[in-house]
Amino acid sequence: MSIYLPTAENIASAAKLIQQGELVAFATETVYGLGANALNAEACEKIFKAKNRPHFDPLIVHIHSLEQLSELTEDIPEKTLKILNHFWPGPLTAVLKKKLIVPDIVTAGLPNVAVRFPKHPLALSLLRAANLPIAAPSANPFGYLSPTTAKHVEEQLGNKVSFILDGGECDCGVESTIIDFTKEVPELLRHGGIPREEIEKICGEINLGKAVLEKPLAPGQLASHYAPATKLVILSKNELPKEGLRYGFLNCGEMPQGINPAVVEQLSLKGDLAEAAHNLFSALHRLDELKLEVIYVYELEENGIGAAIMDRLRKAAVKLH
Ligand code: TXA
Ligand code: MG
Repeated sequence: MSIYLPTAENIASAAKLIQQGELVAFATETVYGLGANALNAEACEKIFKAKNRPHFDPLIVHIHSLEQLSELTEDIPEKTLKILNHFWPGPLTAVLKKKLIVPDIVTAGLPNVAVRFPKHPLALSLLRAANLPIAAPSANPFGYLSPTTAKHVEEQLGNKVSFILDGGECDCGVESTIIDFTKEVPELLRHGGIPREEIEKICGEINLGKAVLEKPLAPGQLASHYAPATKLVILSKNELPKEGLRYGFLNCGEMPQGINPAVVEQLSLKGDLAEAAHNLFSALHRLDELKLEVIYVYELEENGIGAAIMDRLRKAAVKLH
């Protein structure tokens, strides 16, 4: 059995594994992470191996205090610190100029490091007990659905990671928002748990990074990500699913008339986008188990956290089979 309840004893064991250069999967408020000592290149290599992740894809480093931040990054402008203080702990990842202590494998050779101060009590307990920065991507094989329960991790990576710290269902359900603070005007690199609108209230206007601007509309335009094994198709408002297929339907709000899905997953009956984000990956995991011909979903509003949901759906939909 590799799933461990978050007792003090188990957290201490997990922290010890991190200190010894081993992997531990753990809950955060966004998705489960696959963690290793961020200052140990060999330990981080194990993450890439377990996930089958290409080395050009850098890792996010998790911390439990601003003191830890200063060990990893060069001096941070007062203005940036203010923004970080406002959103941390929470689902915001900051790209900042790194110090030499951060191994190249973590940043894919880039001069900047992505840092996140999570707010999940279990993630914080583990970080404090290990007292090391922990590099952690989402705990799924590269390109697959992100895990929002310990069971998802066990199903996807159970044979690669021996210790999964169970912190229950992830509250937020989509990954952190990533902002590059090394730019003159901060740049949004990934939509995530904190909506862009919320960040702009504190930060002023931010620029949209290339990866955010280039929505993957056509297959092949971007490497697939967050993808179920089943084909996923996003329908625009006046399109209808192709009948005759055994299809699953991912719904948010009132059920549309005149469609006949084999199975429906309701993301949020009242059409609440935060609730939909929370349920997104679990619903996709469940639909994916049913060996359907296709999963249909209508496009959602892209305001607030809806932008992060649509980003994940678009990336899931470009998977080539
Ligand atoms: O919510 C989250 O952020 C979760 C939990 C576990 O904390 N982690 C997560 O990690 O989503 P991952 O590996 O799935 O996403 C990492 C992404 C990279 O693909 C890249 O886009 C960006 O973070 N990133 C990491 N380091 C970077 C850097 N130095 N410069 C620019 N982007 C970076
Ligand atoms: Mg990921």
